[in-house]
Amino acid sequence: MTHIVERLNQAGIGMLVDGTHLERVLPGEEVEPQPDGTARIITPVADRVKPPCRHFKSCGGCAMQHASDEFVGTWKTKIVERAMTARDLPFPFRTLHTSPAQSRRRARLSGRRTKKGAMVGFHAKGSDALIDVPDCQLLLPSIIAGFPALEALTVIAASRKSEINLTVTDTLGGLDVFVETERELTGQLRIELAGLAEAHNLARLAWNDDVVVTRKSPDQMFGQTRVAPPAGAFLQATREGEQALVSAVLETVRGAKRAVDLFSGAGTFTLALAEHAEVHAVENSEDMLQTLDRGWRHAKGLKTVTTEARDLFRRPLEPDELNRFDLAVLDPPRAGADAQIATVCASKLRNVAMVSCNPITFSRDSAALVAAGFTLEWIDVVDQFRWSPHVEVVGKFTRT
Ligand SMILES: C[S@@+](CC[C@H](N)C(=O)[O-])C[C@H]1O[C@@H](n2cnc3c(N)ncnc32)[C@H](O)[C@@H]1O
Repeated sequence: MTHIVERLNQAGIGMLVDGTHLERVLPGEEVEPQPDGTARIITPVADRVKPPCRHFKSCGGCAMQHASDEFVGTWKTKIVERAMTARDLPFPFRTLHTSPAQSRRRARLSGRRTKKGAMVGFHAKGSDALIDVPDCQLLLPSIIAGFPALEALTVIAASRKSEINLTVTDTLGGLDVFVETERELTGQLRIELAGLAEAHNLARLAWNDDVVVTRKSPDQMFGQTRVAPPAGAFLQATREGEQALVSAVLETVRGAKRAVDLFSGAGTFTLALAEHAEVHAVENSEDMLQTLDRGWRHAKGLKTVTTEARDLFRRPLEPDELNRFDLAVLDPPRAGADAQIATVCASKLRNVAMVSCNPITFSRDSAALVAAGFTLEWIDVVDQFRWSPHVEVVGKFTRT
């Protein structure tokens, strides 16, 4: 029996009128649910495209390759709009930026031993099976070119039964690889791994909490400043997405002399802002702040940057601390910045830029700002999680 797909939920899964969930379908399509849970497409809609990646059918790394870029962009923008209007908030949408194919600079892959050696890839849709993805259209080609190194690491790090995680990041010095494994790091293993890093020209190799070798500094450019974030530390997903977010945040710094960057990480926004204003960077990871500080000390021509390690959920900056600044930038984790936003509202701050990877907590925190007298000037939507259901958003808030 055929059905028409009514809508997609926030995970990109199609909903039929009777409540059935179907993956990889689009609204308006006539489909026939199959016993294995997949859908046979009877009448496709114009937004359906041939998936650009040959692995899409089996790989669980992407969810939306069957839809055109226009469809995905509009759908993600609507997700943000719905989150805002559900709280009676305005949605002054300005632009959508979509990162190109083959631009993801950081990937968390899995590695498994095989009879022939090892396999590295993403898991299949809703399963433990590992899919080899040599022609992945999501990741930067430099990461794909590093698969032989990742496979060689898997042979060493994984047991016959267990899988390992490999976080690989493209850096100015080459690939930065962080291995999570149950195998203990011994002196002998350290020597073997250093040889492997040399043979595969890795920038840095970290084994659980230990950095085994740093052959070249695993730098990123934050504004004009080179920074080497700690192994496995947060980084915006693509250079293009980061650029779109930084440009938007920089628009809010005009005229500001002192800014505070809350949830600063290793300084993505801090070091770009410091080209224009003094910045106080606050974050709970000491390692990230040390990196940020080192980058700032080696840079030329930046205004003063100070750092403070602090848990902003438990101990947000208080209103009297915030009153020293002309601008606050917030980029919290998915949970949002509930406690910190409450003190921003109680402060005399007049300019806020808020970045978020979660439209739900973004709208909750926006509602608090608006209730405290802020106006939401604009919102940009940044799709740096191409072909996934995730979306990033940045907004500017002012009050007089
Ligand atoms: C979405 S990331 C943004 C990082 C940075 N703004 C960037 O763009 O690279 C969120 C940051 O918040 C930090 N963080 C998480 N929980 C925190 C907390 N309770 N207090 C302070 N910082 C926290 C994380 O370490 C991470 O660096």
